[in-house]
Amino acid sequence: MTTDTLDLTDIDITDATWFADGMPYELFARMRREAPVRWNKLPDGTGCWCVTRHEDVSAISRDTETFSSNKAGIFLHPDQVLPLDLARNLLLYMDPPQHTKYRLILQKAFTPNTVKKLEDIIRARVTKTLDAVVEAGECDFAHDIAVPIPLGMITQLMGVPDEDIPQFYAWTEQIEAAQRADEPNAASNVFMEMAGYIHAQIERQIGEGNEESLVMRLRAAEVEGEQLTDPEILVFFGLLAFAGNDTTRNTLANGMHALLEHPEQLQELVDDPSLIPAAIEEILRYTSVVRWFNRTATKDTELGGQQIKEGDRVIMWYASASFDEEVTEDPTRFDIHRDKPDHKTFGGGGRHFCLGAGLARAELRISLEEITSRLKDIKQSGDLERLPSSWANGLVKLPVTFTPGPKLGE
Ligand code: HEM
Repeated sequence: MTTDTLDLTDIDITDATWFADGMPYELFARMRREAPVRWNKLPDGTGCWCVTRHEDVSAISRDTETFSSNKAGIFLHPDQVLPLDLARNLLLYMDPPQHTKYRLILQKAFTPNTVKKLEDIIRARVTKTLDAVVEAGECDFAHDIAVPIPLGMITQLMGVPDEDIPQFYAWTEQIEAAQRADEPNAASNVFMEMAGYIHAQIERQIGEGNEESLVMRLRAAEVEGEQLTDPEILVFFGLLAFAGNDTTRNTLANGMHALLEHPEQLQELVDDPSLIPAAIEEILRYTSVVRWFNRTATKDTELGGQQIKEGDRVIMWYASASFDEEVTEDPTRFDIHRDKPDHKTFGGGGRHFCLGAGLARAELRISLEEITSRLKDIKQSGDLERLPSSWANGLVKLPVTFTPGPKLGE
C-alpha cells in the first residue's frame, strides 16, 4: 500500500489495522516530515496529539511538569486496563515528587550489580527452556521460547514457585488483552485475584527471611528514612507482571524474526557471540515493542509549532522516534553493526526510563548466546502471527525448525 497520497488529517494511527503487517514506516516518515505534532482524530469524536520526531519525544518525556502521567494515565483511555485511581499507585502513573521518592527506593533493588548476580539464574532458565524443545528440532519460537524465559524470570524474582507459573501466565495474558480491549477496567478482576496470590507469596518470603530475595531487598531499601510498605511492594509486583514480562517476550520474538530475515547477520552472531550486545541494541531499536505512551498536558503549551491545550492527550510515538532519519541513518535497515543506536525503546529518556532495562538486556543477551550456540541452522518454517495492537509490537506465533541437539540439563 502506498501512503504517499493519503490525507494525513484523516488518519487514526492509533488504530491497530495500521500495524497488521508490521510498522507503517513510510507513513511515520511522512508524519515526521510533514506533521510531526499532528492532531489525530479518534473514533469517539475526540482526538489526541501524535508526536513522531525523536527530538520532540525526548522533550515531552523530560518535561513531567507540563506532560503528566498521573493526570489521565499512560493509555488513551484513563481507565484502560485498570481504573485510574487504582493505577495511580503504579510507578508508571506517578509524577514527581511522588515518582522521585518511589523510584529512588526501587532503584536500590535494580542496580547493575543485582542484575549481574542474576545472570546464572537467567542462564539456567534459558537452558531449561531450550532443553524442552531442542530434541524436537522444531517449535513455535514465540510461544515455546519467548514466553517462558521472561515469565520464568519475573516469577522467580517475585518468589512464585514454578508449579504456579501456568496460573501466573494466564493472569499476564488477561492483563495483556486488557491493554487492547474496547472496554475500560478490563484487568480489574485479574489484578485483584493476582494481588491475593502475591500477598501470600510475599508473606511466605518474609517468613523465610532470605536476604537475597527481591521482597527482602525491597523491604531493606531505604532513601532518606523512607521505605516501602508491604502493600507498596505488592503493588510494585503487580506492575512488574505488566512491565517486565510481555515487553521482553516481544523483543525476543521479534528480534529472532529480524535475525531470521537477515540470515547473514544471524550467522555473524553464531560465529562471533561478542557481537551479541551490540545486536541487542539494534534489535531493541528495530522492534520497538512499546510503540507509544500517553501524557496529558497540565497547562497550555507549544510544541512543534502547535498549540497544545491544558488537558490534551499527547502520544509519544517511541516506535517512530527510533526510526527518525535525524538520528539514525537509513533507519529501516536492520544492521547489528550500528554504533549505539539512539533508540527510544526504553522510553524517551526522562524520569520513567525503564527500570528493568539492565535486566531486559541481560535476559536478551543470554537468550541469544544460548540460542545461537544450541539451535543450529534455525529457520522460519511457517507464517508468523502478530498481536492485533497499535500499542504493543507482539508476535503470537513464529514457527521455526532447527537441527535437533542434546539437552544440557538433567
Ligand atoms: C525489552 C524489554 C522492555 C522494554 C522494551 C521496556 C520498555 C519500557 C518503557 C517504554 C517504559 C516507560 C518509559 C517512559 O515512560 O519513559 C518502561 C518503564 C518501566 N519498566 Fe520496562 N521495558 C522492558 C523490560 C522491563 C523489565 C524486564 C522490567 C522489570 C523486571 C521493567 C520494569 C519497568 C518499570 C518498573 C517501569 C516504570 C519506570 C518508571 O515509571 O519510573 N521493564 N519500560
